[in-house]
Amino acid sequence: MKKIAVLTSGGDAPGMNAAIRAVSRAGIAKGWDVVGVRQGYLGLVNGNFIPLRARDVGGIIQRGGTMLGSARCPEFHKEETRIEALRQLNCEDISGLVVIGGNGSQTGAHALHQMGFPVVGVASTIDNDLAGSDITIGVDTALNIALEALDRLKTTATSHHRGILVEVMGRKCGYLALMAAIAGGAEAVVIPEVPTPPEKLAQQFREAYQRGKMHAVAVVAEGAEYNAEALVKYFKEHKSRIGWDVRATILGHVQRGGIPTAYDRLLGTRLGAGAVDALARNEKGVLVGWLKGRVMTSPLDEIVGVQKSIEPELLELAGILEA
Ligand code: F6P
Repeated sequence: MKKIAVLTSGGDAPGMNAAIRAVSRAGIAKGWDVVGVRQGYLGLVNGNFIPLRARDVGGIIQRGGTMLGSARCPEFHKEETRIEALRQLNCEDISGLVVIGGNGSQTGAHALHQMGFPVVGVASTIDNDLAGSDITIGVDTALNIALEALDRLKTTATSHHRGILVEVMGRKCGYLALMAAIAGGAEAVVIPEVPTPPEKLAQQFREAYQRGKMHAVAVVAEGAEYNAEALVKYFKEHKSRIGWDVRATILGHVQRGGIPTAYDRLLGTRLGAGAVDALARNEKGVLVGWLKGRVMTSPLDEIVGVQKSIEPELLELAGILEA
């Protein structure tokens, strides 16, 4: 291995820069040249490479987003697009690729691996829906942002004796919503993994009202069957029965922005360095993730397309704490 490339793909996640920095510096420490690919797979197909020397990755560990840029690249599903990507890698004499990203990005990495190119993935998505990593880069920061919003919303909800629905990201996974609900002391949580018709939530809110609570907060995952917009509509139509005057706040991309927490900087650093170690060991077609408190690799063959499930104990705990 003499020259490797690194790219970030899909939704950006706080801590990606720490991973880029670690890939670059750990690669240099092995005597390799490291290049970055701008704008994810799109940049790969267009041959958009930049050198990543030690100084090029200075001052980025504390920055959110990704200094390489990211993109959604649906064209990468086509074989001809991937053949062009491989041609670009070969033209640059690159013999290993690190893909920092979530489910979609690792599907692309897997496809390149199946075409024979040495690829290593790094588990990075705020959704925490990637099998092969107990926690992924960006989750901790996104969760802390959601918690800050919850804390703020509770103060105004209490003042007005209102109900609040806070919608968080997570695609089809309820992890962020469930953790935010537990850590933020919410009265209810709505996640895709547990069907929650509006009336079920309404009943929880009504009971909270009857118990004399000064506010009722529900964290709603964006991927739930009924999102915050649909739920607030139902609550407004049935206000006299439910008790609360309800408002909805959709956090959206706010959760992906901003300064990475210490945890995400460290996780990004360890997984980025772990990717270089994996390439040095000649491990190919693996995802570098954090499993049972350690940096571990899992074959992309086994984890791509697998939806990580929610721990039932956490769901149960959330229910107990909602009293
Ligand atoms: O996968 C990360 C994520 O932020 C999801 O939580 C969300 O559904 C999606 O990306 C939003 O994608 P985009 O930034 O392309 O709108």
